[in-house]
Amino acid sequence: MLTNDSHRPVPEGVVLQEEQQVHEPSSGRGRRHGTSRSEPFDRWFRYPAGFASDYASLLLGELQLPTAGLVVDPFTGSGVTGTAARRAGHSFFGVEAHPLIAELAALKLRRSPRDPSELLVTARELAQQATTKMRVDISGEADLTLRSFDPETLALLVSLRDLIRAKQDQEWYLYLKWALLATLRDVASVRVGWPYQRPGTQRQPTFADPVSRFLQRVAWMADDIRDLEKYKSASLTCRVKQGDSAESENWSDIGNGSAHGCVTSPPYLNNFDYADATRLELYFWGDVTSWSQMCAEVRSDMLTATTQQSSVGAARDARISLQEYGAVGAQISELADQLQKERGNRARGKEYDRVLPDYFVAIARILGNLASVLVPGAPAVLLVGDSAPYGVYVDTPGLMAKLGAQLGFTLEKDVILRHRGKRWAGNATRHNVQLAERFVLLRRE
Ligand SMILES: C[S@@+](CC[C@H](N)C(=O)[O-])C[C@H]1O[C@@H](n2cnc3c(N)ncnc32)[C@H](O)[C@@H]1O
Repeated sequence: MLTNDSHRPVPEGVVLQEEQQVHEPSSGRGRRHGTSRSEPFDRWFRYPAGFASDYASLLLGELQLPTAGLVVDPFTGSGVTGTAARRAGHSFFGVEAHPLIAELAALKLRRSPRDPSELLVTARELAQQATTKMRVDISGEADLTLRSFDPETLALLVSLRDLIRAKQDQEWYLYLKWALLATLRDVASVRVGWPYQRPGTQRQPTFADPVSRFLQRVAWMADDIRDLEKYKSASLTCRVKQGDSAESENWSDIGNGSAHGCVTSPPYLNNFDYADATRLELYFWGDVTSWSQMCAEVRSDMLTATTQQSSVGAARDARISLQEYGAVGAQISELADQLQKERGNRARGKEYDRVLPDYFVAIARILGNLASVLVPGAPAVLLVGDSAPYGVYVDTPGLMAKLGAQLGFTLEKDVILRHRGKRWAGNATRHNVQLAERFVLLRRE
């Protein structure tokens, strides 16, 4: 059996690439936790994407899809697969659970309303008004917002926000909103990088002037929109549906057997909370005003991938549903048993045992929906990492492939792209394994 430099054997069927046995995708140019800072459209807002558009383009090129095909993504996020598909001349349909992020993806994939020079003119007018306006009252802002910026910066951000909100019925409204939302982390005076916002830890803002940074962001948007002319095709349609991709009705906008390929990056089983990760933007814009509202409204359509989302009832139901999936269902249940035992050994153990069944049942439903919309022979690429909560190794990509095999897919490739989580390797209290991000290629039968 092949081995890599980790403490565990390579899971059955996994191919190790090249001499150093790991292939670092040429994506994101230095990206660590999200979309590229420089690629067109990616740069509109940094989101933990799994891959950047240059890598998604590379993949789409290698999948040999038919000309002007339909590409789908059940975990659309900020729309990286969508923008890459459009650039390659394909239509796109994606489902994204996070309402704010679904709005961003849909915006990036919109046909441009008009000449973006108008966007620039409007932005400059708003910037002028924000800087000359009487200083606004910031005392009613959310605690996280107040703690994240120095008062002068926050006053300018709030001025801009209020001016933009007043333009809600105008066609450039969402572009202005997102240029401002993306400016927040650039000008914050506390740690606000991914994955978590740390309002207790001060830092030097990356950019001092929020207004000029906002205008810079608007200018990038205008450049990217203008560039769309190059690959505009009247017959292409790109759509994003906000909702849960495990629900078949969220796929009803496209017919069964209508899609030619899928490139996606599902949430990893690593306790990363996509709602919490965007707390700063949600609070600043006023979409949510409390943690409970965020859980109810932002997280509600997401699959369970964190212990915070888990519940006894959902886990019990999922255990029953797992029985539909034969040997792989039993394997997932066994892992959940091991995790339950590990939790019992700890004073305040986390409920990974409740996350696991719920997560994989949702993945199975999503793979089932994908199988319905893909044409026979279509490829589906999943980029996903494995995990090892409490040292119990969960071969997430391998288990997904096994579930796929029950739902009309054949596993064609399973390749390690890069090692990750190195800092935990060898740490007995965390993961005593070398984790990896993998590329899984399934083929619709
Ligand atoms: C790794 S990210 C994918 C990011 C994406 N590649 C991009 O371009 O930004 C996973 C995404 O899946 C979304 N998600 C989680 N559960 C979902 C579900 N049941 N249906 C649809 N989207 C879901 C999360 O909100 C998150 O945005």
